[in-house]
Amino acid sequence: KKGNYDHFMQKEIHEQPHSLTTTMRGRLKDNSVVLGGLKDHLKTIRHSRRIIFIGCGTSYNAALAARPFLEELSGIPVSMELASDLLDRQGPIYREDTAVFVSQSGETADTLLALEYALENGALCVGVTNTVGSTLARKTHCGVHINAGCEIGVASTKAYTSQIVVMAMMALAIGADRISTQARRQDIINDLSSLPSKVSEVLKLDGEMRDLAESLIQTQSLLVFGRGYNYATALEGALKVKEVALMHSEGMLAGEMKHGPLALVDETLPIIVIATRDACFSKQQSVIQQLHARKGRLIVMCSKGDASTVGPMESCRVIEVPQVADCLQPVINIIPLQVSP
Ligand code: BG6
Repeated sequence: KKGNYDHFMQKEIHEQPHSLTTTMRGRLKDNSVVLGGLKDHLKTIRHSRRIIFIGCGTSYNAALAARPFLEELSGIPVSMELASDLLDRQGPIYREDTAVFVSQSGETADTLLALEYALENGALCVGVTNTVGSTLARKTHCGVHINAGCEIGVASTKAYTSQIVVMAMMALAIGADRISTQARRQDIINDLSSLPSKVSEVLKLDGEMRDLAESLIQTQSLLVFGRGYNYATALEGALKVKEVALMHSEGMLAGEMKHGPLALVDETLPIIVIATRDACFSKQQSVIQQLHARKGRLIVMCSKGDASTVGPMESCRVIEVPQVADCLQPVINIIPLQVSP
């Protein structure tokens, strides 16, 4: 039932404090993470030569958001594959690889074909899905259910944030034997617990984001620049705009801005820049300055209290979001972009 909401997508966006709570339920202990579906395979995963994330659409974007912290906490190289592209190339997969398949439905055809391919090549296959009993859940060697509750909206929202949280928990579990990252892991575990309340806080921007969306109705196109942990946020935010507002939108790596996209910048093209606090903050500040220099029409997403850092307010709109551990920030930052289309 949609209840008081106009669409299932809207309902599912607002359900996220709850869906994230159910995703984490029983899995976070004081200073560790317990994932029943993975625990017998952690040793094999830790010894793998490479972890490959495989998915389509929003599920691929969720894996892309998880990539930096999985690399950081596991020390294992993580590569990314869109399922269809892996199949087109027949890319190399080895017995020493761990292939992680991410799919809300667990039934996406390309993802399942890529799974067959990875099984034939002898990789350990791990599933991350929302659907108990799905083909993906049955055919992988092991995995984790995201437990976000049934997602009816075609444009994925609550599954995206729960997928990121599950992959954060996976990274914590895989990296649990490393002493050097213990303090970092503890900080992330603490912030995971407070994530649902921070998500409730950012959902209050709903009205403000709808106003912003109204102001963009006449435009042809929208760019979204992100980097580091929030490169995925840029891709996923742009995908939501395409799918829901049926407007052209592109997510771009801010580090690539000067290698082409800068040529598009003028006073009319709206550009969202994600510039919340993390190790890339000063680089994003210089991106913002370059865009101001070209009189770009900017909308900057920054951490609460940082509005004054984004440059002349008259030529720029600001979205202030609550801050969490840098690697969990994509869970917060996508929410204003989910509500706006
Ligand atoms: C697409 C949907 O067809 O499939 C996307 O429109 C979704 O929203 C993608 O992300 C992948 O689906 P799944 O179920 O494999 O996560």
